Amino acid sequence: MIKYLGSKRTLVPMLSELAEASGARTALDLFTGTTRVAQAFKRKGLTVSAVDLASYSEVFARTWISLDGGKAKQQDLTSALSDLNSTPGDAGYFTKTFCEDARFFQPKNGEKIDAIRNRIEAEFKDSWMYHPLLTSLILASDRVDSTTGLQMAFLKSWAPRSFKDLDLRDPELIAGEGFAYRGDALELATTLPPVDLAYLDPPYNQHRYFANYHIWETLVRWDAPEAYGIANKRIDVRDPATKSAFNSKREIRESIEKLLKDVQAETLILSYNNESWLTKDDLIAMCEPRGRVELIEVDFKRYVGAQIGIFNRSGEKVGQPTHQRNVEYIVLVGDKSTLAKMSKPRS
Ligand SMILES: C[S@@+](CC[C@H](N)C(=O)[O-])C[C@H]1O[C@@H](n2cnc3c(N)ncnc32)[C@H](O)[C@@H]1O
Repeated sequence: MIKYLGSKRTLVPMLSELAEASGARTALDLFTGTTRVAQAFKRKGLTVSAVDLASYSEVFARTWISLDGGKAKQQDLTSALSDLNSTPGDAGYFTKTFCEDARFFQPKNGEKIDAIRNRIEAEFKDSWMYHPLLTSLILASDRVDSTTGLQMAFLKSWAPRSFKDLDLRDPELIAGEGFAYRGDALELATTLPPVDLAYLDPPYNQHRYFANYHIWETLVRWDAPEAYGIANKRIDVRDPATKSAFNSKREIRESIEKLLKDVQAETLILSYNNESWLTKDDLIAMCEPRGRVELIEVDFKRYVGAQIGIFNRSGEKVGQPTHQRNVEYIVLVGDKSTLAKMSKPRS
């Protein structure tokens, strides 16, 4: 899976146990990001809907959530991946923008990415394999990048992993039913059908995913946008239309309140951490009108990029991280009997 700010990798086992204990059969992951939480719910047999604003996240959701891996012709995917892996490099927009003008990837890998991405568009646009192949290309690119995990800057010296050769691997599809949506959670919360369980993991501060993962947006859209700054970000990063209300200190409170009012689910699980603009007590108070509220506190090591250090725009280390631990909270909201089932001690 890609390196992703706020990814709930370490919380996945606990979240999927909570979903199972709740007895839910349908679930909604409204800020699905990497889709890893939605994937875990799907593996537990729930029918999951996954929502996010990001184009790359929609690609992941169409690979792992809405596609029924049990019905896919795995052999065709394996052959396509092996054929694409042997594509000779061919420098284009990606190589120029992200390997020469900026140094996120070594040119030998940028040239492969250009060539493979062009082939996926030309040969697989109408195939069920389109999204799995794009997912595989994003994951392969992430394994050879030269960043600390965010695409706001690249490292001054090449990361050791960037010397490796790009290698497309099987994304390992998941059997079962699901749905994928790209859109604003605030709008979709009012239109999606009711579910038993909704998982909410919004951004709670200024870190914008559209800017932090602009290369994955461009790799998916394949629209060769004008780029600016040292990190060669897409020009529309500056466009207010690409900004999320959850990244605005002024709008976050009313956005969370609206979401809590609109989302049609019996039970809610919210992720929250101590780097948020809202306090824990604020959030709890906002959840109370929906039912009983319980809080699980989990102390984890901080996001890997922050552990490495603080970097300026050219990727030079300019400071030490201030703290290396952060506390993650899981807030449960629902009726008394469901929360009692979810709060039983787990293994
Ligand atoms: C904390 S991350 C979620 C991480 C995810 N749970 C995981 O484990 O990968 C927040 C996500 O919210 C998405 N997002 C931000 N604003 C949104 C909005 N208004 N509607 C839907 N998704 C949004 C971002 O693109 C990002 O993927």
